Amino acid sequence: MSSTASLTIDRVGKAFRLNGAEREILRDISFEVGKGEIVGVLGASGCGKSTLLRLIVGLDSDYSGRIAVAGVAATDAGRKIAMVFQDHRLFPWLTVAGNVGLALDTAPLSRAEKHERVRAYVDLVGLTDFIDAYPRQLSGGMAQRAAIARALVSEPDILLMDEPFGALDSLLRLRLQDELLRIWQHRAVSIVVVTHDIEEALYLGDRVIVLEANPGRIRSVIDVDMDRPRRRDDPRINTLKRACFDLVAGAA
Ligand SMILES: Nc1ncnc2c1ncn2[C@@H]1O[C@H](COP(=O)(O)OP(=O)(O)OP(=O)(O)O)[C@@H](O)[C@H]1O
Ligand SMILES: [Mg+2]
Repeated sequence: MSSTASLTIDRVGKAFRLNGAEREILRDISFEVGKGEIVGVLGASGCGKSTLLRLIVGLDSDYSGRIAVAGVAATDAGRKIAMVFQDHRLFPWLTVAGNVGLALDTAPLSRAEKHERVRAYVDLVGLTDFIDAYPRQLSGGMAQRAAIARALVSEPDILLMDEPFGALDSLLRLRLQDELLRIWQHRAVSIVVVTHDIEEALYLGDRVIVLEANPGRIRSVIDVDMDRPRRRDDPRINTLKRACFDLVAGAA
């Protein structure tokens, strides 16, 4: 495996113990994410996508194999990885600035620097006018953008996204995909994005990993060798979409 990879997943396996019995959830998962690359992860419900992200971000360290960030074991990498969940998980008693700023709590920055950084990322996700708003005053899409700002404010090398736009209506979803790409161009962060949506994976990803279930394994890796900005109606996307659909359907 190359040493320039931003994220290395090497023969990762995971089992859960349920009612005394061991259940294998992930088997022999290996892939790399290069610096500034976007990798989509597709797979049927229950095949272990969220589990995989939890291992990568360090929420669960009980697994086999190796996960490394820029060549260093993921658990030592601290703030280099951030995660966005399907639900925004903002604290209702904090404003947008408060929620985003929380991610800088222990950062070695002065108050003024933290303030500046929070403002910059709130601007970046287009919430300038809502910096002092509470989550209840935001729409679903705005709350999700605030969650993205909170993930990015610590300037991670890797952003993990678990169905980040899954709860949003389809038009808003398309808009946030474009916004994510705009932010990605600005920050060149490496992104792993889990989604149920084949089009979303193909529109965003440099590569799409298709998992099959029981236990979760890599069924196929699809290269999306297309420049950006991409056209959603590009015939190449349609061709890949059919291939992906067959893979996902066959893996269910
Ligand atoms: N803490 C746990 N203890 C026992 N089993 C678990 C635990 N967490 C997840 N699992 C099991 O691991 C499997 C994979 O779950 P996971 O949430 O990773 O799937 P997923 O691919 O993200 O599904 P979805 O697309 O529905 O979000 C499921 O069968 C689930 O029951
Ligand atoms: Mg999940």
